[in-house]
Amino acid sequence: MCGIVGIIQKNETKIGEEIIHALQKLEYRGYDSLGVAIIEDDKLIIQKDKGKINEVIEKIDIAPISGKIAIGHTRWATHGPPSKINAHPHVSCDGKIAVVHNGIIENFQELRRNLKEKGHTFSSETDTEVISHLIEDFFVNEHLSFREAVIKAIKQLVGTYAICVISTNAPQRIYCAKKDSPLVIGLNSNRIFVASDIPAFLDQTQQVVLLHDNEFVEIRSDGYNIFNLISMEQITRAPYTVSWKAEMAQKAGYPHFMLKEIHEQPNSLYNYVRMKQKSVKKVAEKIYVAERIFFVAAGTAYYSTLTGEYLVRKFNKKLSQSIIASEFESILNLIDENTVVVPVSQSGETMDTILGIKKAKEQGASILSIVNVVGSTITRYSDEVIYLHAGPEIGVAATKTYLAQTIANWDVGLELGLLSGSFNKTEYESHRKKFNQLPKIVKTTITNNEVQARTVANWFSKKKSGFYLARGINVQTANEGALKMKEISYIHCESYPAGESKHGPIALVEKDFPVVFIAPKDHTYRLIQSNIMEMNARGASTIGVIEENDDEIKNLVTWSFKIPQGYSEIFSTIPYVVPLQLLAYYTAVKRGYSPDKPRNLAKSVTVL
Ligand code: AGP
Repeated sequence: MCGIVGIIQKNETKIGEEIIHALQKLEYRGYDSLGVAIIEDDKLIIQKDKGKINEVIEKIDIAPISGKIAIGHTRWATHGPPSKINAHPHVSCDGKIAVVHNGIIENFQELRRNLKEKGHTFSSETDTEVISHLIEDFFVNEHLSFREAVIKAIKQLVGTYAICVISTNAPQRIYCAKKDSPLVIGLNSNRIFVASDIPAFLDQTQQVVLLHDNEFVEIRSDGYNIFNLISMEQITRAPYTVSWKAEMAQKAGYPHFMLKEIHEQPNSLYNYVRMKQKSVKKVAEKIYVAERIFFVAAGTAYYSTLTGEYLVRKFNKKLSQSIIASEFESILNLIDENTVVVPVSQSGETMDTILGIKKAKEQGASILSIVNVVGSTITRYSDEVIYLHAGPEIGVAATKTYLAQTIANWDVGLELGLLSGSFNKTEYESHRKKFNQLPKIVKTTITNNEVQARTVANWFSKKKSGFYLARGINVQTANEGALKMKEISYIHCESYPAGESKHGPIALVEKDFPVVFIAPKDHTYRLIQSNIMEMNARGASTIGVIEENDDEIKNLVTWSFKIPQGYSEIFSTIPYVVPLQLLAYYTAVKRGYSPDKPRNLAKSVTVL
C-alpha cells in the first residue's frame, strides 16, 4: 500500500510544507520513496526521490515551494524497485499532467503497449505511469475536456486504485477516483484535503467525507463534487465528524499496529491471491527438477517455510529441508548447481539469510525467494521472486506477513502437486477454489475467536510458561504460536511435536499448566486426542484450536478456538494460527506490555 495526499486551497501559501506534513502522517503506509507535484505560477513542479521522507526532504527543499494546489505520495513499491524514476508523481510526455496512485493496475502492460504505439515515451517501470499518458492521449489527441479525458482514462483501468490528478490544463482542480484502495476527503474553512487515510489531515480537520468504490471526485478550493463512475450520476455526501485522536488514526482506530495488522490479514491475503504471480509456477518448476531443495529463513519466516518443506516432501517425494538461516553453514557442502534454495523474508534484509544465499549462489544454486519488500537485498540475489504484497508491517511481531509467507508456500505447493501428478487437474481446481477462499476463512476465524482470545488471555497472562503442541504440518503453527507469546508477552512458551512431549518436556507439567494444542481433523487427529488426555491426566489446563463443531475435543479441553470446517486437511497452517496471534496479543496487553515494540527486538535483524 502507498500513501497519497492532495491539497487545494483558496490562498497561496508554502504548500510544499503542508503536503510534506500530511505525507509524514502517512509514512506507516509506505516509505521507500517520496514525491510531490505542485502548481506554482502556472508551472507544474515535480520533486521526488528514493528514500524515507526525512531522507528525501533533506536532499530536496520542498517546503518553501508556494502554490494553491499540490499532490504527494509515499511509496510502497509493487511494480519496479524503489528509485527516483519509479517514485510518484508520474507525468505525461508534455509534463503538464501529474498522477499519484495507490493500488495495482492489472492491465498496465497492454495500456503501455498501446500508448507507446501512439508515440508516448515512458520513463518508469511502474504501472501508475500509464495513467498520466492515457489522460494526455485523450486530452491532446481526442480533444476532450481535461475532466472528460481523466474520466475516460480511469474507465480504461482494470485493477485497484486511489488516484489523484493535477494539471496545468486545469490548475484549479484535483481530480480523484477510487476503486478498492482507500480515499477520503477532509475539509476546513481554508482548504480541502484528499488522502489515503484520515491521519493525513486529522490535525487540520475532523470533517471527513468517505469515498466509495467506483467514484470520481472533482475538488475545487471551495468544495467537491462526487460522481458514480459508471452512471456518472452526481452523489451528495455530507462530511461527518471523526472522533479519533491523531495518534490513534494511523492505527485506523486500533490500539496497536499489531492488532490492526492481524485484522488486515483478510485484505493482505486477498492482495496476494489476486496477484496470481507468474513466478509461482516458475518456482514450482525449478523445485520439481532440482535434486536438493533447501528453504532458508529466520524466526517467524523460518516457521512459514515448514509448510514448503512439508509439501515438497509430500508432493515432490524428495528430501527437502528448512534451515535456520544462522545455521546455513551446516549444509553448504551439499549445495551445487542442482540445488534450489528458497529464502523467505518479510524485510528481504535479514543478514543471516542474505549471507546464506550469497554462499549458495557462489556454489551454483538457484535462488527462488519469497519476500515482502520489493527491491530488497534478497530479491537482488534471486533468480525468481514471489512477492507477498502484504504492505508495510509496522508491528515488530510478524503477523500478516507470516500468513502471506505461508500462503505463498501453499501456492507453490499446489503447483508442485499438479506437476508431480500428486493430484489431477480436477483436484487441483478444487484446491484452488479453497485457496481463493482463504481471505474469507481468515476473516471468519478472527470474528469468531477474538472474544475468546481475550477471555483466555486474562487467564494465560498470569502464567510463567506453557507448551504449544501439534503434529504433522501444524508443528509449524505450534512454533509460531509459541514465538508470538514469547516475543510480546514475555511468557516462556515452548513448542514441540505433540508426540515428543512424552520424551521429557512433560516433566514440566503440573496443575493448571497451560498446554495449547493445534488439533485439526486431519490424519493426526486421534493421536492428538490421546496427547490431550495425557496432559489432562497430569492436571494441565488445555487449550484446543479445533475445527468448529468438533465436540469430541471441545469436551476434552478447558478452552477452545474454532476454525471453519474444510481447512483441516489442506491449508490448515493458515487459519489455525490466527487465534494464537490474537491470544498472544491480548495476553501481552493484559500484562501491560506494548505489542508493537517488544523489548530487545528489531523489526529487521540486519546484523549477524
Ligand atoms: C517475528 O515476529 C519476528 N519479527 C522475527 O522472528 C522475524 O520473523 C525474523 O527476524 C525474520 O525477519 P524477515 O522475515 O524480515 O527476514
